[in-house]
Amino acid sequence: MSISQCGICYTLSMKKQILVSGLRATSEPHIGNYLGAIRQFLEKQEDFDCYFFIADLHTLTTAFEPEELRKNSLAVLADYIALGLDPKKNTIFLQSQVPQHTELAWIFNCITPVSELQRMTQFKDKASTDVKNINAGLLNYPVLMAADVLLYKGEVVPVGEDQVQHLELSRIIARKFNNAFGKTFPEPKPILNKTARVMSLTEPTKKMSKTGGAAILLSDSPEEIKKKLRKAVTATDATGKSEGVDNLMYLLKEFGNQEQYDFFQSQLKDNTIQFSHLKDALAEAISEHFKEFREKRKKLLEDPEYLAEVLATGAKKAQAVANKTMEEIKGKIGLL
Ligand code: TRP
Repeated sequence: MSISQCGICYTLSMKKQILVSGLRATSEPHIGNYLGAIRQFLEKQEDFDCYFFIADLHTLTTAFEPEELRKNSLAVLADYIALGLDPKKNTIFLQSQVPQHTELAWIFNCITPVSELQRMTQFKDKASTDVKNINAGLLNYPVLMAADVLLYKGEVVPVGEDQVQHLELSRIIARKFNNAFGKTFPEPKPILNKTARVMSLTEPTKKMSKTGGAAILLSDSPEEIKKKLRKAVTATDATGKSEGVDNLMYLLKEFGNQEQYDFFQSQLKDNTIQFSHLKDALAEAISEHFKEFREKRKKLLEDPEYLAEVLATGAKKAQAVANKTMEEIKGKIGLL
């Protein structure tokens, strides 16, 4: 008897919790995104029934270029597959290819108080930094997020700290719907990861970010990684502490081996360290860690037909579940 035929295993697999998470189709992920979020997804795919999608509709709420958006959506997909997200184990799709997301978002719009949306930190931030583009989509962004998750009756959602408030609103919406029309949705919980934050190489008091060019992208060549690390700041402050060095050591711990880490740690202690050696060792460790990824990613991007096929299969799988939920909801709220 194979494992899949075993009754107990089947029952256990039926109990897998539903996990949903959206990935923004912005520029390429860097090592901060990897340690902070992506690595979690890879671990979770074994234990949960996972829906991962590229949130291209959310991308429309801030300035975008059509050609860039198209390119980035496929690049994000290639990145995640190359990192090890398995399209066979998970449902991986593009949000805009499952129209039920927007359909459910409309229904949720009609039960969501505008005041709840106006108090969202992300809305206030974005509205104050880009005053010329305060569009209705930006305000309704978290409503679409609630639809993304609840369409699949998602129970857990791995997100960054900045999205916790949006998820809280998803729970408010779920509760409101359940109270008005009968128990339909679970109240989805965030899963936050506890890794330390990766800091900018050149301004180590700030988080590593996509802007500014100081972030190490997963797709960077070994030469690029070395070049970026060589510019990393290692200055100490008045108390002898250095955020820059702490950051490099943290990265070495994650990407290097224990021996290397202990070696540089003891050199740090007795002040014999040469930072160029630390940086080069780290560059090599990071390059090595993503070597296979770079090769896979390159192959995937050369094969847009395969990527399109993954998206088509994912959309079909997602739509089947989404259709069922929409039928149930329409019945409950009186849409014929
Ligand atoms: N807003 C999320 C982010 O910026 C992306 C996202 C869209 C998402 N829909 C989602 C995340 C649903 C989790 C669940 O990271």
